[in-house]
Amino acid sequence: MSHSAKVPKGKPALRVKIISMGNAEVGKSCIIKRYCEKRFVNKYLATIGIDYGVTKVTQKERDIKVNIFDMAGHHLFYEVRNEFYKDTQGAILVYDVSSRASFEALDYWMEELSNEVTNKSEADSIVVCVCANKTDLRRAVDESEGRLWADAHGFHFFEMSALSGEGVNEMFEALFQGVVQTCENGGRREPITTQLGYTKEQIEAIQKLKNARSDHERLGLMPGASKDEVNKAYRRLAVLLHPDKSVAPGSEEAFKLLVSARTALLKRCQ
Ligand code: GTP
Ligand code: MG
Repeated sequence: MSHSAKVPKGKPALRVKIISMGNAEVGKSCIIKRYCEKRFVNKYLATIGIDYGVTKVTQKERDIKVNIFDMAGHHLFYEVRNEFYKDTQGAILVYDVSSRASFEALDYWMEELSNEVTNKSEADSIVVCVCANKTDLRRAVDESEGRLWADAHGFHFFEMSALSGEGVNEMFEALFQGVVQTCENGGRREPITTQLGYTKEQIEAIQKLKNARSDHERLGLMPGASKDEVNKAYRRLAVLLHPDKSVAPGSEEAFKLLVSARTALLKRCQ
């Protein structure tokens, strides 16, 4: 080797392993493609087993070689992908905001991950970014529900669209930053401090008010409920959702629905 060979400066390149998880067709491969190749593929080409790719990024002046294992979401490929969970440092856990089932499957994916890694401490050291993808489509899952789920697990949360590209870079930026920080921390994941300022109970009450098909259902009452019952149900929900007190997204709209449901039901009681 000649003496003019480049001497590496600073810390050596870090090698990290990232995986993708989530139901089939939620957009895992498209999110990765959007980030690595800056393009979007409209046609659905199901991943068969695993797709592997490498990319290089720089974090805090440190070169990072990122090995990405893009998993197939279909259950048919469980036997293939279960080999690849070990030694993962970062994961994107994706659901499709237009598919309620894909959101409800998040718990399943966490279970699969924890069954396949060596122990709980390995699972706990993985930096996870929950990706609410396809925000360009009609929603079946509100942002607040996704945030709440991610928050309860101590994960990052990002809304995004692989189609428009919105939110994708920010998510990978946070993922790599989290992984590097964890490495520098000797494998301990930095706790994420999010202070949402609202509760699951509030989100559920908002959902119920928005989705109910009748005023009785809005207040959680049976048809024929008395004036007292209406007022009692109203007060319970008003305390939970009053816009002066609640910062949960959608509180204001839900509170208006609550007031008009109560007015309509009281009229019927007279
Ligand atoms: P598997 O490999 O089978 O697990 O699926 P996957 O999660 O990798 O899904 P993929 O990235 O292949 O995308 C599935 C379909 O969703 C494709 O038809 C994409 O074009 C479409 N898609 C992905 N992201 C978006 C998005 O942000 N918006 C819209 N409208 N469509 C998207
Ligand atoms: Mg795929």
